[in-house]
Amino acid sequence: MAKVLLLNGSPHTKGCTYTALEEMIKVFDKEGIDTELIQVGNKDIRGCIACGSCSEKGRCVFDDLVNELAPKFEAADGLVVGSPVYYSSPNGTILSFMDRLFYSTSFSKHMKVGAAVVSARRGGNTASFDALNKYFTISGMPVASSTYWNQVHGFSPEDVRKDLEGLQTMRNLARNMAFMIRAIADARGKYGLPEVERDAFTSFPDGK
Ligand SMILES: Cc1cc2nc3c(=O)[nH]c(=O)nc-3n(C[C@H](O)[C@H](O)[C@H](O)COP(=O)(O)O)c2cc1C
Repeated sequence: MAKVLLLNGSPHTKGCTYTALEEMIKVFDKEGIDTELIQVGNKDIRGCIACGSCSEKGRCVFDDLVNELAPKFEAADGLVVGSPVYYSSPNGTILSFMDRLFYSTSFSKHMKVGAAVVSARRGGNTASFDALNKYFTISGMPVASSTYWNQVHGFSPEDVRKDLEGLQTMRNLARNMAFMIRAIADARGKYGLPEVERDAFTSFPDGK
């Protein structure tokens, strides 16, 4: 059975971001996609210290939820990252988590489907949405989209439940994601995954 991991970057386990993710989970259930919701935002997650130890050991030097999640991410077909908007960006905890998760894991994320979901009271949604999508688009992960940029509005879960278009966006997003996961699984069987070149790694004009 296909599986999607959903990360809740909010410190509120049942807050606005959760309410958006929950709307997606209901659709995944109907679509026969297995889900696991992982609470990130209330954990003590520090930022990457660029020690490079992960390139030798294949895991982050800080042995926390990042290392715990890595094998689940490797096995998953899709990843949804949800975050509240803090000063027009994703919140600090989820950014630290995503930096370390993506940097410390060397397994292929190619063709795992990604989706970002943001929750704001009022503004900063699209800037936050863009920042979260960057993890997917550097990793060969197709990004699922919806009928609006994936956002809900509210200061409380009750507000989000009144954001009917926001919830509709979440349902359409989950349906599109389920479709993409199935389509990619079919295409992988028929054609195999596309070739990935990695030899060039240029930081300077002379290529060294
Ligand atoms: C430190 C902090 C900064 C915030 N910055 C913004 C902001 O820039 N724009 C906004 O609309 N809401 C902002 N908010 C409000 C939350 O993003 C918003 O209420 C969100 O829906 C809460 O989601 P949650 O219940 O999942 O935590 C901020 C909240 C906090 C705690």
